[in-house]
Amino acid sequence: MRLVCEEFGIKKLSCDLLCVLIHTDRNQSDYVTHIDQLLNGQIASLKQGGHFLGNALEQCLVIPHPPKGIKRMLLIGLGASKEISLELLRKAGGVAGSASTRKDCENVVLAVPSFSNTKVKSEDAGQAIAEGFNLGGYFNDSLKSGQPSRTRPGRVTILSSKAETAIIKFGAARGLMISNLQNHCRDLSGCPSNILTPSFLANEARRIARKHGLRVKIYRRPEIEKMKIGAFLAVAKGSKEQPYLIQIDYIPRTKATKRVVLVGKGITFDTGGISIKPADNMGEMRQDMTGAAVVLTTMAALAQLKPKTQITAFIPTCENMISSTAYKPGDVVTTSIGKTIEIVNTDAEGRLLLADVLGYASKLRPDYLFDVATLTGAVTVALGHGCAGFLSTSEELTEVFVKASARTGEKVWQLPLLEEYSHQFKSGVADMTNSGGKPAGTITAGLILKQFTADIPWLHMDIAGVDFEYRGSEYVPRGPSGFGVRVLTEALCKL
Ligand code: BES
Ligand code: MN
Ligand code: ZN
Repeated sequence: MRLVCEEFGIKKLSCDLLCVLIHTDRNQSDYVTHIDQLLNGQIASLKQGGHFLGNALEQCLVIPHPPKGIKRMLLIGLGASKEISLELLRKAGGVAGSASTRKDCENVVLAVPSFSNTKVKSEDAGQAIAEGFNLGGYFNDSLKSGQPSRTRPGRVTILSSKAETAIIKFGAARGLMISNLQNHCRDLSGCPSNILTPSFLANEARRIARKHGLRVKIYRRPEIEKMKIGAFLAVAKGSKEQPYLIQIDYIPRTKATKRVVLVGKGITFDTGGISIKPADNMGEMRQDMTGAAVVLTTMAALAQLKPKTQITAFIPTCENMISSTAYKPGDVVTTSIGKTIEIVNTDAEGRLLLADVLGYASKLRPDYLFDVATLTGAVTVALGHGCAGFLSTSEELTEVFVKASARTGEKVWQLPLLEEYSHQFKSGVADMTNSGGKPAGTITAGLILKQFTADIPWLHMDIAGVDFEYRGSEYVPRGPSGFGVRVLTEALCKL
C-alpha cells in the first residue's frame, strides 16, 4: 500500500472512496467546507438535516451526485474536537480501513482535520490514523482458493492542512511501518501448525533478520544440549519436528548504553502432551507461538526505529506433542541455571521453555528482561479478552510499560507477583513443580519464571486472552490480533 500526503486545495479529487473525518464542531479548519464546495454542499445539508452530526465513530455513506470523480464518500464522526484522542483517531482510521477492503477501492483518500492546538500532536495523529487504517483493513485469504473477493487499496492519500502535511506524512509513515509488522504478526499467529512448524519459524526469523539488517543465529538440538537448556528440550522430545532456539540481535550504530533481552514463546502447536487438552477448540493452540511472532516483528520495527539500546531476542520453538518419546508427568528436568523442575502437568509447557531461556539470558547480564507468551488460560479467567496481564519485578519497567500501553492503545493490567502464592508450586523431589494448579494460575506461572531472572529487572506479558479477537472492533478485525507489537515496540524505544 502506497501512502501519499497532500494538502487541501486540490481542485479535482478522483478516488474510489473518500473518507472525511468530521468533528461535531467544525472550528478547527475549513477543510469540510472545502470538500463540500466540490460536492455542492452535500455534507452541509446532511448535517443540517440531522442525518450526520459527527458524533464519535458515527458513519454515513454517501454516493455523491454528481460523482465529480468521487465514487463514494464515507463520513466518519470524531466527536467534539476537545475530546480528541489517539485511540479515537486509530478507531476512525480503522473504520475507513475496513470500508476500503473491497475489490473496487483501489484509490482511497482520507480528509483529516487540523490537529494544531489540540490535545494530540499532528505527528502522533498521522501515525494513529495510518495505523488504524492499515490494521482495520487487514484480512488473510491466502489459504482460500479461487478468485479473491476482497483486496487492499493500492494507494492511500491523507489530505491535511498545508502547515501539517509534512509532519503528518512523517507520523503516518511510521504508523504504516508498525501496522504492516503487526499485520505480519497476525499472519504468523494465525498460520496453521502444519505450515508454520518450528523450522518454518526459524526460516522466517532468518528472512526477517536479513531484510532488516539484524544479526541472526539459529541453535539446533546439539547446541541447545551444550547450552544445557534441558527443560525446553524435554518439551520438544515428543515431536518429530526439531526444536530451534532463535537468537536475533539489534545492535545500535553508536555504542549501546544498555542491553535488553526479549523472550517469546514459540510453541507451534500445544496438544497439552500426555496431560492432553480437551478436543473442543484445540485447534486454537496453533496460536501458541504468538509470543514468538510478537517478538520477531517487534525486532523488525526496532531495526527501523533504531533505539540506542542493544536488543537481543530469544525464541525457543518446538511442538508440545503426545508420543512414546514425550516427556511425562513425574519427570524431573534440569534447566540452564541448574535449577530442577518436577513435571506435574505436561500442558504447563510454556513456562518450562521460557524459564529455561530466561535463565540462560540472565547469565548474559542484560539490564532488562522481557518475555511475551500465550502462557495461561487463567489470564482469561482473570481479565477476559479486554487486556493483557503483566507481572514485573521492576517499578521502572512497569511505569514505562503502562505509559507505552496508554499511548499505543494496547491495554494491559498488572497482576501481583506475591510470594504468598509460591507454596503452590513447592516440590518434594525437585526445586519446584511446573504448575501451581488452578488458583491464580497466571501469578504462579509468573512466580515460576521469576526464579530464573536473577536480580535483573523483568517484565512478563501474558497475551493468552488477547491474541485472538472474537468480536471484531474498529481496527482489530475478527481473527488473530497481533496484540503486543505496538506496546512492546513503544516501551523498548522509551527505555
Ligand atoms: N498455551 C496454553 C495457555 C493457553 C490456554 C493459551 C488457552 C490460550 C488459550 C498453556 O500452555 C497451557 O496449557 N497452560 C495451562 C497451564 C496449567 C496446566 C497449569 C492452562 O492454562 O490450562
Ligand atoms: Mn500448554
Ligand atoms: Zn502452551
